[in-house]
Amino acid sequence: MTRTMAVLNLALRGSPFSQKIISICLCCVIALWGCSSESNHYSAFQPGQLWLDNNDVHINAHGGGILFHEGVYYWFGEHKIEDRKGNAAWVGVHVYSSKDLYNWHDEGIALSVVKDDTTHDIREGCVLERPKVIYNEKTGTFVMWFHLEFKGTRYRTARSGVAVADHVTGPYTYLRSFRPNAGFWPKNIKEQQKQVPSQYRDYDYSGGSLPDDPEKLNLIARDYTGGQMARDQTLFVDDDGSAYHLYASEENSTLHISKLTDDYLSCSGEYVRIFEGRFMEAPAIFKHDGIYYFIGSGCTGWAPNAARSAKAESIWGPWQELGNPCIGEDAELTFHSQSTFIVPVPGKEGLFIFMADRWRPENAIDGRYIWLPILFRNDRIEIEWLDEWDLRFFDHF
Ligand code: DGJ
Repeated sequence: MTRTMAVLNLALRGSPFSQKIISICLCCVIALWGCSSESNHYSAFQPGQLWLDNNDVHINAHGGGILFHEGVYYWFGEHKIEDRKGNAAWVGVHVYSSKDLYNWHDEGIALSVVKDDTTHDIREGCVLERPKVIYNEKTGTFVMWFHLEFKGTRYRTARSGVAVADHVTGPYTYLRSFRPNAGFWPKNIKEQQKQVPSQYRDYDYSGGSLPDDPEKLNLIARDYTGGQMARDQTLFVDDDGSAYHLYASEENSTLHISKLTDDYLSCSGEYVRIFEGRFMEAPAIFKHDGIYYFIGSGCTGWAPNAARSAKAESIWGPWQELGNPCIGEDAELTFHSQSTFIVPVPGKEGLFIFMADRWRPENAIDGRYIWLPILFRNDRIEIEWLDEWDLRFFDHF
């Protein structure tokens, strides 16, 4: 029996009054201990620093996105493991919850990779990136889309994967993967683009680099029947409940914006090509005062590059590029990070947080997070570095 238990044992043998006092104290201690076991570390964002969850473990949700549902924020992202292998999916999609955006509670693995079936699309060791989750009000279903590369294909699969759940934190059930919009031309196709130039009909593309002019290769026609390539991606639900899937396509040279079916589980076949030949990745999108805004990156593997931004009055475009939204030191490398999502600020209509990843490919699990406020200045969006900030920052706007 420990000393504490011995003292308690002695005290509880005392008078009824002392027993009552002791039991009240015990209840208080247990209540306080219960609270303290939920580490509430933070009351501010510290971009680039270790960000510990309620278990004092660095948050493990990379390339992620946020879903706000019934007053709670949920952060979904790629679960990474130690060392180089970490950039493949050996666990799945991790999910955390928070009520203040600073302190995150580990809710476990929302979608697990498959460990006992070497033929499965999402078998362990596949590439499962940039998971995003949206909630379908009509079906009451949580829908996750992600970028999927089958194991061992070195990013040649270029498919979108879809999984669903009845509860926001899962478990999510994998439905299928595919290349989007097979058998559909984009709304802004040019007639001459419906032909694959003869000299490129059997082009054996090595990946990662295109001929001088990707339009000569005409990838949209090459992939018309089998479906369009889909790698980096995000989801967006518009004010009217319509959902859209933005994905890097055509060997990463061109982005597609594709409207989903009403159940959010498939492509409607209605889509457009935007930023043709601009090799944009890591798409993120938000809407403010009826205007759609886009932030993305260049295409340089895990290495950072200068972010890009754009705006449009219609999600179908035309999109007007606004240049790199980052300003100040290291802006040309997006503060050593890459976009992944834009978080609307709670209760602050029109205020948004730029959510980015600072990748550590040599030790993926150590990847950090860059969350910074988005400013609307000079008819464009701007992002400045802050070592530490909190949501009161927006009180000045
Ligand atoms: C850049 C992408 O944005 C990441 O999601 C990942 O696919 C890396 N490329 C792989 O090099």
